[in-house]
Amino acid sequence: GINVPQFIDEAIAEIRRTVKGRAVIGLSGGVDSSVCAFLAREALGDRLIPVYVDSGLMRLNESKKIAEMFSDFNLITVTAEDRFLGALAGVTDPEEKRKVVGETFIRVFEEEARRVGAEYLIQGTIYPDLIESEGGIKSHHNVGGLPLHMDFKGIVEPLRDLYKDEVRAVARGLSMPTEICERMPYPGPGLSVRVLGEVTRERLGVVRIANAIVEEELKGFLPWQAFAAVLGKATGVKGDIRAYGYVVAVRAVSSRDAMTADVIELPWEVLRRISHRIAGEIPEVSRVVYDLTPKPPGTIEFE
Ligand code: XMP
Repeated sequence: GINVPQFIDEAIAEIRRTVKGRAVIGLSGGVDSSVCAFLAREALGDRLIPVYVDSGLMRLNESKKIAEMFSDFNLITVTAEDRFLGALAGVTDPEEKRKVVGETFIRVFEEEARRVGAEYLIQGTIYPDLIESEGGIKSHHNVGGLPLHMDFKGIVEPLRDLYKDEVRAVARGLSMPTEICERMPYPGPGLSVRVLGEVTRERLGVVRIANAIVEEELKGFLPWQAFAAVLGKATGVKGDIRAYGYVVAVRAVSSRDAMTADVIELPWEVLRRISHRIAGEIPEVSRVVYDLTPKPPGTIEFE
């Protein structure tokens, strides 16, 4: 473990030392970027410009939640759904998706930085993001998926040596709202890696509602991560007629640091309820499955 008060002091000092003038930080609503934003605001005050990019790949009501959480931060919100979906059109390879999403995020940050005269970017990269990207397992968008050329004088990653549970300890040390401290990890490329194959508006609509249902039903279980993904299409029957609809996979895992993960043995009634709700509340879904694969050999996300 780390010494939290000492870490906080050193991180603030590092940000102050590194950043000249203004810095932008991309907020995703997750614990990593939120902790960075709190540290950076301590360090920089008004010189910190938090930017929330609504990529169209966020969870249900995320934009509203973020606006509330950072209501006293003079947050800039950039609506960029069309831009992200345009860039993702025709892209089916998972690593290519990460590159496209990572690149689009950075271009948006660069534009915002230019607009407000900021030359530094602060990012919530944590240690496991670095090792998994370097190990070639997946290029997490905030590491390996970044374009080679970025128009910033400096990039600051105050959490680069921490594991997730340490980030949460820092969040508590900063007295951040419990909701943020305890939030499940969420991938940078968002719902784009929870739709297998090409990302379309229709598939995003389906996976967004399915994710909301899973999170709602599993609130009491405090999983490391719980979510839904759209796998493809299969034949079903709804109201006596053939329904060729989406297959939604539900995943709930426990983990310490996301490097390995175990499937949670959910009670049967809970699984049945989730299945009924997803197939019942989302007309385009014909089938719901529960993923039984630990990591390894699976990964946490499907892509
Ligand atoms: P995997 O799927 O590799 O995920 O077992 C390990 C952890 O990382 C998250 N994840 C990502 N996070 N960019 C991120 O910032 C990504 O591209 C990405 N892919 C996976 C995943 O949700 C899990 O917590």
